[in-house]
Amino acid sequence: QGMKVEKLEKTIPREGPIVTLVLDGVGISKPDGKDGDAYIIAETPVLDELTAEAKARKLFCHLKAHGSAVGLPTEDDMGNSEVGHNALGAGQIIAQGAKLVNQLLVDSDDILKTQNWADFIEYAAKKDKSIHLFGLLSDGGIHSHFDQLTALVSKIAATGVRSVIVHPLLDGRDVPPTSGLEYIDMLEKLLEDVNKAHSGFSYRIGSGGGRMHCIMDRYGSDWSMVERGFNTMVHGHIDESELVSGYKGYYCCAKAAVEHARELFPEKKDQYNPPFVVVDSEGKPIGMVEDGDVVININYRGDRAVEISQVFDCPETEKFPQFDRSAIRPYPKGIKYAGLLEYDSETKIPKSFLVPPPSISSVSSELICAAGLRTYAVAETHKFGHVSFFWNGNRSGLIDDKLEKYEEVVSYPNSETEKKPEMKAPEVTKKLCDAIRSGKFENIRCNLANGDMVGHTGSLEAAVKAMEAVDACVGEIKKAVEETGGVLMITADHGNAEVMMKKGKPVTSHTCNPVPFIIFDPKFAGEYELCADSIDTPGLTNITATFLNFLGIKAPEFYRKSLIKLL
Ligand code: 3PG
Ligand code: CO
Repeated sequence: QGMKVEKLEKTIPREGPIVTLVLDGVGISKPDGKDGDAYIIAETPVLDELTAEAKARKLFCHLKAHGSAVGLPTEDDMGNSEVGHNALGAGQIIAQGAKLVNQLLVDSDDILKTQNWADFIEYAAKKDKSIHLFGLLSDGGIHSHFDQLTALVSKIAATGVRSVIVHPLLDGRDVPPTSGLEYIDMLEKLLEDVNKAHSGFSYRIGSGGGRMHCIMDRYGSDWSMVERGFNTMVHGHIDESELVSGYKGYYCCAKAAVEHARELFPEKKDQYNPPFVVVDSEGKPIGMVEDGDVVININYRGDRAVEISQVFDCPETEKFPQFDRSAIRPYPKGIKYAGLLEYDSETKIPKSFLVPPPSISSVSSELICAAGLRTYAVAETHKFGHVSFFWNGNRSGLIDDKLEKYEEVVSYPNSETEKKPEMKAPEVTKKLCDAIRSGKFENIRCNLANGDMVGHTGSLEAAVKAMEAVDACVGEIKKAVEETGGVLMITADHGNAEVMMKKGKPVTSHTCNPVPFIIFDPKFAGEYELCADSIDTPGLTNITATFLNFLGIKAPEFYRKSLIKLL
C-alpha cells in the first residue's frame, strides 16, 4: 500500500479481535433533557453495566462529535454520520465539504475564478439557458445550507443568467419536522429580490417534494425515490399514484402545494411530503428541464447525492440501468450537470463539480492493510457506506481485497423504520459475532443504525424500542468478545436518539451532544490507562489512534492522539 507502518514498542497482547462498535446517533443528553432521552428511558441493562464497569476501571469518557472537532464550520453545527465516520476512519480533523464550500462560495468570490463557473454558469448566461438548482432546502448544514444557496443564487444573478429554477426538497430531518414552509418563504423572498433587482429575470421554484420521498436515496436502497424526483423535476410530471385523497400534484406555487399536502396527509410531515410541480394559469409546468439546460445539485454531502448524479452523468445516448429517463417525454438533450462538490472521489461521481472536495488521505484502513492485518466491516444498507465509504475518506470499495471484507445486510425500506425499530440489528449482530468468532480478523468495525434512523422518525416510543433492541445486540457482541479474548470499544458518531423531544415537541434531527466512549476489555490487567484528560478537547478523531494502538500500530504524528496511554 506504500504506507509506512511503525509498530509500537510496547503492545497490548490480546487473543481476540479489536472491535469498534458505532451506535449510530446515540449521544449523551444534558441533565435537564432526560424526559426526551430514549437511551435513558429505555431498559438497557447491558450498556448500563458496561458503562458502570468502564467507569470503575476509568475506561470511559465523553467525546466531542460536532463542530470544529469533526471539521465543521462552527460550534453550532451538529454532528452527522458523514463527518463522524470520516473522523473515526481518518484520525484527523479534516476541513469538511461544508467549510470548503463556504470558503469558496459564501465568504469570498473565489468560485467566480474557477473553470467550472465559466463552463456552467457563464455558459448559461451566454447561451441564455436556464439553470436548475435542486437539493435539500434547509439550514441543517448536513447535506446543504441555505446560506450557500443564497450565495449561489446571487452570484448566478450577478453573472447575468436570466432564468433560474429551484427544485427544493423539503427537509424535516435535519431541522424541525414541519419547518419546510419557513424555508420555502425564505426562498421565495430570495428569488423575488433577484427578480425585482434585474428586469427580465425569472427566478422561480419549479417543483419539489420531501427528501425521503424524492431523489435523496442512498446506497441503492430505493431507486424509485430517485425516479420519482427525476420525473417531477425534469419532466414536470407527477405519477398518478400520488394523486390520492384530493391531492392535485400540480399547483400555482410551492406554498399552496405544501399547505394542501399537510392538510391531507398531516402524518407525512416534510420528509415524506408528496412531490409537486408548479404550473402556470394554463396548467403548464413552469420549470421543466429543457435541451442544453444546466442542472446543479446544491447538496455537498455525498451519500444521498450519488444516485441522482449517476442519472445525469449517464450519457444521453446510453440506457440508464435503473429506470427509463424518457418514460414521460424524451430526455432533454445536452443537459450539463454538476454537483456542488465531488461526491465520490474513487468512482469520480459526479463528473463535474463546482467546489473541489476535502482531500482525506492516509486513513487508518491503509495503515492496517499495510501492516498486513485483516479487517471486517458490517452494517445494514442505510449505514453500509458509512463503515466503508465514509470510513475510508469518501472512497468506495476495498483498500485491499485480500485483507478486507465488508458486508452489507439489506435494510427494510425507509418507511418501515418506525414500525420496525429493531431494524436489521439482529442480523447485523449475527454476522458481526460470526466474524469475531471466526478468528479470521484482527480488526473489526460495525455500525448499528437504530439510534439514528429511528431517531429521525421523531417517535420517542419507537426510539425507546430501538435502544432496547440495540442493547440486546450489544449483549451478544459482548459475549463473543469475551469468549475470544478481544477488546470492544463502543461509541457513537453523533447524537440523535437522546433528544427525541424538546418543549413537548418531537425532534427528528441530530444534536450537538457528546457521545460515549466505552472500553470493554475482559483481559484488562492495567497495561494502559485512558488519558482523555490530557487531550485538548478529546473527540471522535482520537478513537482512531486508540484502535491502532490496540492493534500494535503507532499512529502517525499527524493523527490526533490516542485515548489510551501504555504503561
Ligand atoms: C440523513 O441523511 O439521513 C440525515 O440527514 C443525516 O443522518 P446521518 O448523518 O446519520 O446519516
Ligand atoms: Co442521522
